[in-house]
Amino acid sequence: MKIKQAYRLAAFLWAGSVMALTSCAAPQSPTPTLPPMASPAPVIAREPEMGPAPADTYAPIDPFTMQQRLGRGLNLGNALEAPNEGEWGLRLDAYMFPLIREGGFHTVRVPIRWSAHALREEPFTIDPTFFERVDWVIEQALNNDLNVVINVHHYEELFENPNAEWTRFLALWDQIATRYRDLPPTVLFEPLNEPHGALTSRVWQALFNETLTVIRRTNPTRNVIFTGANWGRLSSLFSIAVPQDPYLIATFHFYEPDTFTHQGANWVNGSAEWIGARWLGTESDRLAIDRAFNALARWSKDKNVPVWMGEFGSYGMYAELEDRARWTDYVARAAESRGITWAYWEFSEGFGVYNRAEQQWIEPLHRALFPNGQP
Ligand code: BGC
Repeated sequence: MKIKQAYRLAAFLWAGSVMALTSCAAPQSPTPTLPPMASPAPVIAREPEMGPAPADTYAPIDPFTMQQRLGRGLNLGNALEAPNEGEWGLRLDAYMFPLIREGGFHTVRVPIRWSAHALREEPFTIDPTFFERVDWVIEQALNNDLNVVINVHHYEELFENPNAEWTRFLALWDQIATRYRDLPPTVLFEPLNEPHGALTSRVWQALFNETLTVIRRTNPTRNVIFTGANWGRLSSLFSIAVPQDPYLIATFHFYEPDTFTHQGANWVNGSAEWIGARWLGTESDRLAIDRAFNALARWSKDKNVPVWMGEFGSYGMYAELEDRARWTDYVARAAESRGITWAYWEFSEGFGVYNRAEQQWIEPLHRALFPNGQP
C-alpha cells in the first residue's frame, strides 16, 4: 500500500522525537494556553525496508497532550462528505494544505462519507479508489505538519436504522483502522459525526463501545474521539457515560445560538425565519456562552477527559460578517481560556474562512481565529 510505504522511514525518525517528548510526560490536566504544536517529521517516500515496522515504534501519546497539540484546527467541510467529492462545490487540492498550515492552523478535520463508497453487502468493502483518495488527503496533511482527524460523516442510513447498519458500520471502521494502523499518532479517529435520529444516546453508546473494540484490535493506543448523541451538542456529551479507555478525547459542536449561526440554512427547518438575527455580544449573549463553557470545563475536570471542540462556525449567506467575526472570536476565546482546543467549521464553503475566488483569507474571520497573528 502506497501510503504505508511513505510513512515507514518517517515513522522511524519521528518515533524518536515523540519518545523524547512524551517519555517524561505524565497525563496532565488541560491548561488554558495552547503550546506550540509538536510537528511530525515530514513524510519521506522511501522503500519500506528502510525503516522498522512502525506500529511498534510509536510511543503512545496521552490524550491531554494530544488534545493540546490539536491546537487551532480547520474542517475541510463540503468535500469528502458530499455524496461524491466536488458535488458540494469543493474538491481538495494540494495547494490547500500548505496554505492552511501557513494560515496558522495545526489540524485538519476531514469529514468523510464512507457509507457512499462501500459495498452494501458483506464484506462491505470500501471502494479502493476512494480509499486512495483519503490516503492522499492524509498524506498531504502530514506532509504539511498538520494533525489530521478522520471521521465517518453523513451516514444517514445509520441514523434511520442503526440495527440494520450496525455490522456495516463496524466493518467500515475495521477497514479504516486496519489500513491506517501504521500511521503516526497525529492521525486521529473520530468514529461518527453528530449521532442523532434513531441513534439515541443509549444506542450510540453501545455502538461506540463496539466500534472502539474493533479499532483497538489494530490501533491499541491511537487517540480516538468520542461524542454524545443529539448532533454532538454539549448537553448530550454531559449525559454520555465516558467509555473506559485511556486514549480518548471528547468532542462537541458549538453553534449557539442557532438562530444566529444557522440563519437561512436550508438544511435546518424554520431557519428562514431567523434571517436578520444579529450577534452583538451583549452581556446576555456573552453570558450564555460563558455558562456553556463553564459547565463543559467542570465536566472535563470531573471526568478527567480532555475536550476538543470539533466544529463551531456560522453560515455566511445572510449573517453580517462583523457579527460572525465577533461571535467567532468570543467562542474561540471562551474555549481557549478553558484549555479547550478547536476546529473551525469550515475552510471555504458556506461557513468558510477562506475565499477561493479571491484567493485570500476572509480577514475579519481569520483575525477572529488568530487575534494575535499566527502562533
Ligand atoms: C454538517 C454540515 C453543516 C454543519 C453546520 C456539519 O456537521 O455536516 O452539513 O453545514 O455541521 O450545520
